[in-house]
Amino acid sequence: MEDIVSLCKRRGFIFPGSDIYGGFAGTWDFGPLGVALKKKIMDEWWDYFVEQNDNIYGVDAAILMNPRTWEASGHTATFADPLVECKECKSRFRADKITDGISESVTTEEFLATHTKCPVCGKENWGPIRKFNMMFVTHVGAVLPDDDAEIASKNIAYLRPETAQGIFTNYKNIVDTIYPNIPFGIAQQGKAFRNEISPRDFILRDRECSQMEIEYFVHPNTWEENFEALRKMQHDFLKNIIGLKPESIHEYEVPEDERAHYSKRTVDFLFDYPNGEEELMGLAYRTDFDLQNIARESGKSMEYRDKNTGEVFVPHVIEPSIGVERLILAVLSTAYTEDEINDEKRVVLKLPENLAPYRFCVSPLLKNKPELVEKAKEVYDKLRAKYGNVTWDDSGNIGKRYRKQDEIGTPKCIVIDFDTLEDSTVTVRDRDTTEQTRVLISEL
Ligand code: GAP
Repeated sequence: MEDIVSLCKRRGFIFPGSDIYGGFAGTWDFGPLGVALKKKIMDEWWDYFVEQNDNIYGVDAAILMNPRTWEASGHTATFADPLVECKECKSRFRADKITDGISESVTTEEFLATHTKCPVCGKENWGPIRKFNMMFVTHVGAVLPDDDAEIASKNIAYLRPETAQGIFTNYKNIVDTIYPNIPFGIAQQGKAFRNEISPRDFILRDRECSQMEIEYFVHPNTWEENFEALRKMQHDFLKNIIGLKPESIHEYEVPEDERAHYSKRTVDFLFDYPNGEEELMGLAYRTDFDLQNIARESGKSMEYRDKNTGEVFVPHVIEPSIGVERLILAVLSTAYTEDEINDEKRVVLKLPENLAPYRFCVSPLLKNKPELVEKAKEVYDKLRAKYGNVTWDDSGNIGKRYRKQDEIGTPKCIVIDFDTLEDSTVTVRDRDTTEQTRVLISEL
């Protein structure tokens, strides 16, 4: 993990958030290469699930939502982690993250019986388990610091802890405007915020993250077959579009006491990260929990009328939900490779071509030969007009350029040399094999 973190910072993929002020725990900033990778991953997801399916529709809902959303969804009451404080050193932890074999619903008695020692001071002197709500609270409108609690409480809003509720609250808008046939899905990508007690493991557990979620609305009698179909689609996407190795992904049937309050069945997809197995994404059967709650809270019907059978019912929901940062870390840890070429160690990011920040790097062999630079610029402009994500590198010697492009995952380096001026061919060097071939410029 340290090697990946260091590469990410060294090469401009990911920096600690607010780095200049010493950081801000649980936040990360994406640099030029990181944002390119992130955007490609998000675009691939959008293409695979939304554009390639004629029954999945996109939305982009506001992050700030009416607080009744979170009353109805149960987040105000139950979106909480078990917080435990060490009475000796005052450090606070998520109880289920410092002790193996206990769940999020652990009681004080159960936790004390594990005889866990404080990871900071090593003592065993704990306060009670308290439920810590993870939603970030903010105030909307003109609320002043010296306003009384009543005024302040009337203006409370939350930063959304999941993108899903922006989908559920638009279900009726979609049904009334698009008239979709059931089953149909609504997809959203965007930021989600969680006041994690202990953000950790680089970008794996953040206080500000991005999610890509689909709420898939089905007839209640068909939830199992739709669950299976969506499960297969997730595997196909992760393997064939994103390039993860199937042997690094493990399904975990989440037992009832570990499931979120809204779920009747959840399968987590765990990934072999450098620091161990962790949740990459979840597939949950949310029943009609959310639509029924919204109907109750809003007083509006969430019923769906089947155009073919005339049957009226409240749809049930299957939800695939994946965190973008967790997917990025899975991609980076799959791609990160150290090998040896001609007795020289190198670091290479073997990113799939569709995700690499740059597709090609174009270089003149020598930067002080105007005729090579001019020809190289010509090739660079041509490729950039065609592909967009092409980079230019004329720094250092050619070996150093290759090392740098290997580290950022550029699949092909194109070098313009004196032969190019004679026969219009260039050297194309492959990142993974380091093999070099001569190719006509017209065939690039
Ligand atoms: N709408 C359902 C939902 O939000 P979740 O299991 O809490 O379910 C879904 O989150 C996914 O979002 C997770 O599988 C993970 O990929 C990502 N995620 C959740 N919390 C995260 C965090 N603090 N940092 C980074 N990613 C997170």
